[in-house]
Amino acid sequence: MRIDLMAGASLSVGMPTTSAEPTILVFDSGLGGLTVLEEVRRVRPDARYVYAADDAAFPYGRLDEATLVDRVLAVMARLIDLHRPDLVVIACNTASTLVLPALRQRFRTPFVGVVPPIKPAAETTRSGLVTLLATPGTVARSYTRDLIATYARTCRVTLVGAPELAGYAEAELAGEPVPDAALSAAIAGCFVTTEDGRRTDVVCLACTHYPLLRARFEALAPWPVTWIDPAPAIARRVVQLIGPAPRTVSESACLGTFTGRAPAREALRSALAARGVAELGVEAMPLALQ
Ligand code: DGL
Repeated sequence: MRIDLMAGASLSVGMPTTSAEPTILVFDSGLGGLTVLEEVRRVRPDARYVYAADDAAFPYGRLDEATLVDRVLAVMARLIDLHRPDLVVIACNTASTLVLPALRQRFRTPFVGVVPPIKPAAETTRSGLVTLLATPGTVARSYTRDLIATYARTCRVTLVGAPELAGYAEAELAGEPVPDAALSAAIAGCFVTTEDGRRTDVVCLACTHYPLLRARFEALAPWPVTWIDPAPAIARRVVQLIGPAPRTVSESACLGTFTGRAPAREALRSALAARGVAELGVEAMPLALQ
């Protein structure tokens, strides 16, 4: 069974689990999925977590669709085999907007996928001008176009595909923030004014890396807008699927696993530890570009 969700989430119900201490695998191309992990851990602090970053293939936004499908299927096969998760969160819009059907076909594990939060954006805007800020891959997907046609027909949706922003977010997390000018240039296209004086008032953060830059976006925006991050909606869907945390819980550890190399820089290791990812490992899977 497949359920399409309202708030930037897409969920498939394969074999719902009710286990007391489920294992949840949160997957992204890099470190953006940490923004989703944080929200999910808030609602299920008792679960065992594996945070998996396919850093050997980062950034996904540059990969062609066939390569990306093959890559995610291959990495997921390895991760599921190793960690036997009860639930997988694909904390990556670039992957979810393309690979979810293939994942659901291949594996029995339930998947929750982060997809662009078009519906809540359309419900929030007052000016009718909404921007979708995402990777070039997500912007190009027919899935994204279908979401807009279904949920935001009455809005004017501006699509901004930012090739460099996910990398900027990783630099920010590693304690090497990019200059204001570079960030301002990357988001400039998000802000639109019409001839009758209406302005963009909602921007969808349709890449899980972007909430890492949210404070800087807010400071650099030419006017205030509502930034929509789908992560809290994803956390609610996880609870819907596997249930709430038991009353007494102790927070469990989270393993961070990487397909390339484990973060070496102290600033990055500290940032991960601050998010509860203290144990780091590598499951090497070099990307063989076809
Ligand atoms: N975090 C990913 C997303 O939500 C994309 C980053 C990348 O290009 O790898 O789309």
